[in-house]
Amino acid sequence: MNLIASPTTKIYGDIICPPDKSITQRALLLGALQNKDFKIINPLLGADPISTATALKELGANIDISNEIVFSENNQGLSSPVNPLDLGNSGTGLRLLIGMVAGLGLRAVFIGDASLSSRPMKRIIDPLSDFGAVFQHVGFTLPIKTVPSLLNRSFNYNMPIASAQVKSSILLAALAAGSEVIINETIQTRNHTEIMLRDFGVNIEVHSSSKGNEIYLPSNEQLKKNEYDVPGDISSAAFLIAAALLAKESHLVIANVGLNPSRTGFLDVIREMNANIEVKDQKEINGELRGTLVIKSSELSAINLGGAIIPNIIDEIPIISVLAAFAKGVTTIQDAGELRKKESDRITAVTEGLMQIGASVDETQDGLIISGSNLRTQESITINSFHDHRIAMSFLVSAIGLGTKVKVLNTDNIATSFHNFVDLAYQIGFNLREL
Ligand code: S3P
Repeated sequence: MNLIASPTTKIYGDIICPPDKSITQRALLLGALQNKDFKIINPLLGADPISTATALKELGANIDISNEIVFSENNQGLSSPVNPLDLGNSGTGLRLLIGMVAGLGLRAVFIGDASLSSRPMKRIIDPLSDFGAVFQHVGFTLPIKTVPSLLNRSFNYNMPIASAQVKSSILLAALAAGSEVIINETIQTRNHTEIMLRDFGVNIEVHSSSKGNEIYLPSNEQLKKNEYDVPGDISSAAFLIAAALLAKESHLVIANVGLNPSRTGFLDVIREMNANIEVKDQKEINGELRGTLVIKSSELSAINLGGAIIPNIIDEIPIISVLAAFAKGVTTIQDAGELRKKESDRITAVTEGLMQIGASVDETQDGLIISGSNLRTQESITINSFHDHRIAMSFLVSAIGLGTKVKVLNTDNIATSFHNFVDLAYQIGFNLREL
């Protein structure tokens, strides 16, 4: 599918944020591992969580999906699946489930789409192998097989890269095996797994110091939870927020946005870029903070980004880059080499897209340098999304800043994280048409 975005001067309305992908995925995995009657309220029913749920069903979980996701206890528990587990486009689903399956000592074959099959899995295979798991693979990419094995009783891991997926994969392996684990992370990454485990009654401890976080999960912890309410996804809201900032007469209200501090770097960044945004009605449910955002049109200025904030905004860098193209001054983004290992090489994808919209951009090894505001307007703009949901949505939003139509190719994967993007955009005055 290709989409064409028509520019607008007005983004307005009162909407509810689409549910969080990272959190829905974690609730699915813990629900399956817990194997009790359990309900996920307000889950994201996008393609990524659906592929995780389908894989969990293959493992024997009783899952019923409607507006809510309902688990019912299964006498046999989880067992080695007959069919391969296809995680589609989902890095989170794959990496976390491999950890859980390895911890359970099950035999399974993991596969995925072309993008997932080219993404690096050494980052989980190495620590999980040190923990006692056994894998078969060629070159640390899919397909990957887990071979039944017993994990060590205890494992200590210092994370060489800042990745919540790696951290969570090891935590789920330990939890599933009943082993004790200590993980050290020097840079804070999203901490939904730690928060959710605590909310499920697990005695996980996090000690923070100048050296980072030490995360301790004791052995033989049990999960105890009846229902879990998923907050909205700030990473999805970011595209709508950006649309409102770029349009000339905006007043957009987005309710139930997840405001976990390990995810709100985007708000800090756009505030520093002079965005007119207000946060209100904050409350905590299931240990996760959420609130309402009020966004108005803004004249943006450039920003320099690098260091410890990068993992916090890693999924928002494509849309921040688009905002930077319309901001006054030169924006630099560095220390973001991880972007090359996402659903596409996002540094190259953003560079190519920005060039297409007439922005002046330099691609560096670990980031981008973007000179804002002097866009050379072109008649017809076509963007290659590289089949990446966040690249597709970022450049659709660029139509508002440009004031011209923008066509984006291969937008199907928007459905992985934000399946109602076109409808919600329409509700706030932003017209996206299929062609
Ligand atoms: C995620 C962690 C991040 C992020 C991804 C979701 C998660 O990946 O980019 O979209 O749910 O844990 P890394 O942990 O690989 O940085």
